[in-house]
Amino acid sequence: MTIDIAGLGQIVGDSNVLTGKDAEALFTDARKVHFAEALAVVRPASTDEVAAVVRWCVTNDVAISSQGGNTGLSGGAIPWGSGPAVIMSLQRMNQIEKLDPDGWTMTVQAGVLIQTMQEAAVAEHRLFAPDWGARGSATIGGAIATDAGGNNVVRYGNMRDQIMGVEVVMADGEIWNGLRSLRKDSSGYDLKQLFVGSEGTLGIITRAVVKLHQTTPHEQSALAALSSLDDLMDVFALAKDSAGDALTAFELLPEVGIQKVCDTYDLVHPMETRADFYVLIKLGSNRPVTDLLTDFLALAADAGQITDAVVAATPEQEIKLWTLRDELPPTGLYTHHATGIKMDTAVPIARMGEFHNSVREIAAELAPYALTYGFGHVGDGNLHMNVLPMGEADIAKFKSVKPELMRRIDELTFSMGGTLSAEHGVGRDLRDRVVGQKSSVEWKLMRTIKAALDPDNRLNPGVLIPDP
Ligand code: MLT
Ligand code: ZN
Repeated sequence: MTIDIAGLGQIVGDSNVLTGKDAEALFTDARKVHFAEALAVVRPASTDEVAAVVRWCVTNDVAISSQGGNTGLSGGAIPWGSGPAVIMSLQRMNQIEKLDPDGWTMTVQAGVLIQTMQEAAVAEHRLFAPDWGARGSATIGGAIATDAGGNNVVRYGNMRDQIMGVEVVMADGEIWNGLRSLRKDSSGYDLKQLFVGSEGTLGIITRAVVKLHQTTPHEQSALAALSSLDDLMDVFALAKDSAGDALTAFELLPEVGIQKVCDTYDLVHPMETRADFYVLIKLGSNRPVTDLLTDFLALAADAGQITDAVVAATPEQEIKLWTLRDELPPTGLYTHHATGIKMDTAVPIARMGEFHNSVREIAAELAPYALTYGFGHVGDGNLHMNVLPMGEADIAKFKSVKPELMRRIDELTFSMGGTLSAEHGVGRDLRDRVVGQKSSVEWKLMRTIKAALDPDNRLNPGVLIPDP
């Protein structure tokens, strides 16, 4: 049966129903791993329009994948193989509706960029804390839907911790306005949290109230060369003990990654000393942090945990150090990144080094020709390990061992009480692999919630929840 999409144009205007070439960029995910089978991209400009599009989809029995900045890394925003579907792009809902410095909140539409929120908050002497490399293209709606994390989670928590209220269009087109800004509310189930990390499977987030924090006008970062990966947790403990609340980011960077970023973007390695691993540490406060930072580095050096360090002395140097971190993901660095394995694992933080080394051992056994490197958010136990075939000649070999590689690594993750997805979401990529991470009771609870809120399985079918 052909579906006439003219009705969508009547809701959002014909120019906001994209097909063919106009829709191409939004039919493919950021990593170019998934390609949508969809009727169109629909671009509503208000909650009422979102609700009307949902009602049109109900009438025409069409599935909906909602999409923000399309920067997701698990393929959760690309409909595929589940029958007729549309992509609901929230990008036109890009207004900051209210910034309340005294209430320490900001109310935004789902399509506002993370960077726009950061800048708006700073203009009012407040801080919107979440931050990661894709800040300039990721939207708040997508970030809530995937419970995104990033570099500052060690201090401020992840997206879940920033959310005070949400507005959601439900699967039948009804609108739930849960835009509260209460610090405390023990009046029943915390429904807003149900939608954080729900990846568009329970409702479409259209607006949100987020928390703001104190600004940290004094920020300074240092890159320190680790004596050995075995010292990682000791250096982290020392940073926490000596910097306290000022510790804003604590990231692990491997030499192989820094080298590749420098080569790719024509940058100069910031340190003469070479090590296998470095940590990039940012302190932030309303008072100068230079002494705190240098004292910590001196203590770490005295303890033999680091062999060298560079401290950013200017904003330009600060940006240079963080560029090394932002550009570490393989998508921008390696030709065959999409064939490789990209991980978003979290394990109990004390076991990060063990996880890193065990993945390397598994990869060395099954794919010795592959490049294995890891980087990530030490304070959150969140390590992005990557196993990548380098040359064309290795692709077929790699593809044949990939299922076994993933099976062994997943088994390792589960045996450590870890998660396959710390901050990227499950999407399509991890849906079948995540089964073993939760008990049958937990999956039954999740399926019960899904069935109650979306009985027709209209919202992002094939994403997040494995088949029974
Ligand atoms: C990061 O930490 O850089 C992000 O999670 C992106 C990625 O892993 O690709
Ligand atoms: Zn990350």
